Amino acid sequence: MKTAITEMLGIEHPIVQGGMHYVGFAELAAAVSNAGGLGIITGLTQRTPELLAKEIARCRDVTDKPFGVNLTFLPTFTAPPYREYIAAIKEGGVRVVETAGRSPEQYMPALKAAGIKVIHKCTSVRHSLKAQQIGCDAVSVDGFECGGHPGEDDMPNMILLPRAADELTIPFIASGGMADGRSLVAALALGAAGVNMGTRFIATKEAPVHQNVKDALLKATELDTRLVMRALRNTERVLTNKGVERLIEIEREKGKNLTIQDIHDEVAGVYPKVMVDGDMDAGAWSCGLVVGLIHDIPTVKELIDRIMAEAERLIRSRLTGFLDGDISGARKVA
Ligand SMILES: Cc1cc2nc3c(=O)[nH]c(=O)nc-3n(C[C@H](O)[C@H](O)[C@H](O)COP(=O)(O)O)c2cc1C
Repeated sequence: MKTAITEMLGIEHPIVQGGMHYVGFAELAAAVSNAGGLGIITGLTQRTPELLAKEIARCRDVTDKPFGVNLTFLPTFTAPPYREYIAAIKEGGVRVVETAGRSPEQYMPALKAAGIKVIHKCTSVRHSLKAQQIGCDAVSVDGFECGGHPGEDDMPNMILLPRAADELTIPFIASGGMADGRSLVAALALGAAGVNMGTRFIATKEAPVHQNVKDALLKATELDTRLVMRALRNTERVLTNKGVERLIEIEREKGKNLTIQDIHDEVAGVYPKVMVDGDMDAGAWSCGLVVGLIHDIPTVKELIDRIMAEAERLIRSRLTGFLDGDISGARKVA
């Protein structure tokens, strides 16, 4: 399957693995790239630019395919040394950067000078248009379903993607709620040139996280995520657990007066506890509604091959079947 995204990124399948804190290490990024998608190392999980350079080299050792790095621009008081991270990305020969959080505008000249393709992840049409205007090569349009930060508009992909298609001239990929061939075909029908998946990739053999995390994803349903930090306008979709229940209780008590200090224990330093130690009640960690569609732990290659085969069957058989007058839709998908 060729789309504007496969051609732009030099990949075989239009499937990108979004940056994920404490998940997007070289092991996962390389597995996704080796399977024909675009794997992404999460830049800020590496505490320094030097460590990121090492992680890029580790990834390069196990794949000769393109892979990217995620740079998340956080609303922190002491900003990480982004320019040094960009230098490490450039020197590591990485040609794709997924930006997220705040606008990457001030870093665009440096990224473009390094010949890097920039995919900015946005949760609204207006931010997508802004990304296009400042020279991003593509946008990852992240709907309300997504794991992580869905923004404050609560716009599901069924509306957000066709709205983006109507307005954007650069290609975009659909992010949030993507799990299988059905998601890919739906995203393509709504105007996207591919998909970005986060949560689904955690439930793979290669994802370098504690087994408890994968077991929790298998056990959870689409009813088990919660939105937290809304009062701080920093809404995050997370998997519920004891820490999250505590957090929500504090949010209820404090109402509009909530400050980040009130929930420090439930949100700060949680990722290593969950992803490395397997402490599933430690607090808030991102997880999408798509968790309701996760029922197995395949290898990354099995997952990607399955998505592509299912998408092909859907397009060639089920959808053209309707055009050929097969109203049962019974030219089976599976
Ligand atoms: C555990 C986890 C950690 C994440 N960490 C980041 C991050 O550090 N930076 C970022 O831009 N997005 C992050 N995301 C968002 C993903 O890149 C992706 O946009 C999102 O997961 C897509 O929604 P989905 O989970 O429904 O596939 C994270 C998602 C998850 C599930």
